[in-house]
Amino acid sequence: MALGSIPSLEEMVAAANADIIGHVATGHSFTAQESSTNLITDLTKLSRIIRGDTTVIPSLKEKLFRSQTIRRLAVKTSNMIEDRIVYRWRRMQNIQQESGHDTWDSKNRAMPIVDAVLRNRLKTENTLLPGTLSMVTENIKSIIFAGVDTTASVISHALYELSQNPVALQQLRKEHDDVLGSDSSHLWDSILSKPSLLNELPYTLAVMKETMRMYTPIGSTRMGQKGFNINTGDARTSYPTEGCMVYLAGPALHRDPDLYPRPGEFHPERFMSDGRSEWPDLPKHAYRPFEMGPRTCLGQDLALLESKVLLVLLARRFDFQPDYKGDDSPRNSIEGYGRRAYQTMYTTAKPKEGIPMLIKLRN
Ligand code: HEM
Repeated sequence: MALGSIPSLEEMVAAANADIIGHVATGHSFTAQESSTNLITDLTKLSRIIRGDTTVIPSLKEKLFRSQTIRRLAVKTSNMIEDRIVYRWRRMQNIQQESGHDTWDSKNRAMPIVDAVLRNRLKTENTLLPGTLSMVTENIKSIIFAGVDTTASVISHALYELSQNPVALQQLRKEHDDVLGSDSSHLWDSILSKPSLLNELPYTLAVMKETMRMYTPIGSTRMGQKGFNINTGDARTSYPTEGCMVYLAGPALHRDPDLYPRPGEFHPERFMSDGRSEWPDLPKHAYRPFEMGPRTCLGQDLALLESKVLLVLLARRFDFQPDYKGDDSPRNSIEGYGRRAYQTMYTTAKPKEGIPMLIKLRN
């Protein structure tokens, strides 16, 4: 990681995230950390242009230019993903032809998502059918869209809140020392030899949960249904949902002071179930950053795992200090909503200006 002043922590974390998702999804890094022109930057451009289309009224010329750019980027990014899928298909076919059997060693290696799908198809398809190729491509795109910015926003906001809350930072570092050992030169070896150590970090998990409460990066929607009504708390009014798109307002729920006292303050202890917590127990379903039900977030375990790994790698080695230019007056900052790092809307909600940060090696 670069040291000194960086213009956007969020962009840097998003690049790391994209490379992790690249491995998980396709078995290869997307090299987002190494170069500034890659699949991820093109997909980011694409999502910004698409979103721009819905928020401003463009002229005819602009409309034409946008639709051409959207088409060009959509084709270019699909081609890049397709190349990888074809490579994985050929590789798998070769391995099977050479060895005569399925060589997958499920005990020792995690399987990229693409391989899991193709391996199944290989049982019934001799060639990679166009329908399979486009289905896998579109799904990989969805995983990138859904997974990169969300997780990057949350990790950046976590580092921001830790920089503003020295007691929480101290407690987090202590947990890492206690569980992973204070000699960080062996950190990676410790994690690799016993990955389950990452499940023994309750305070780190609470930091992530509290960050997702304060800075829920996305909501979701459901189709209303006949007979499914939403009732007010006092049960005096009942709203039918048939014909409506219902927005699941996790971000609003997570700031309800009845459920989360002092909602604008960062207190990971709210999520410590150690019986000593001064914070109220939460009713079922009152916390839903990944939403719930059959369409719940597919990547939530990966998001939490990645977040823990990055916090473990960064929190003890570096000191982070927000480096916003200009003053802290109310026109630049929102008290209770992250001050200078308040959320702004891109495709997902992201920290304002990506959080410019001053990063120093810890003494
Ligand atoms: C902190 C990070 C993340 C948050 C807060 C988040 C949140 C969400 C939410 C709220 C939904 C909508 C669920 C619903 O409507 O019930 C969703 C869907 C989804 N997420 Fe995530 N997500 C995160 C990270 C990831 C990651 C890392 C991946 C994949 C690598 C991912 C993949 C998906 C996919 C594929 C869906 C669509 C599931 C479906 O429609 O069946 N997400 N996510």
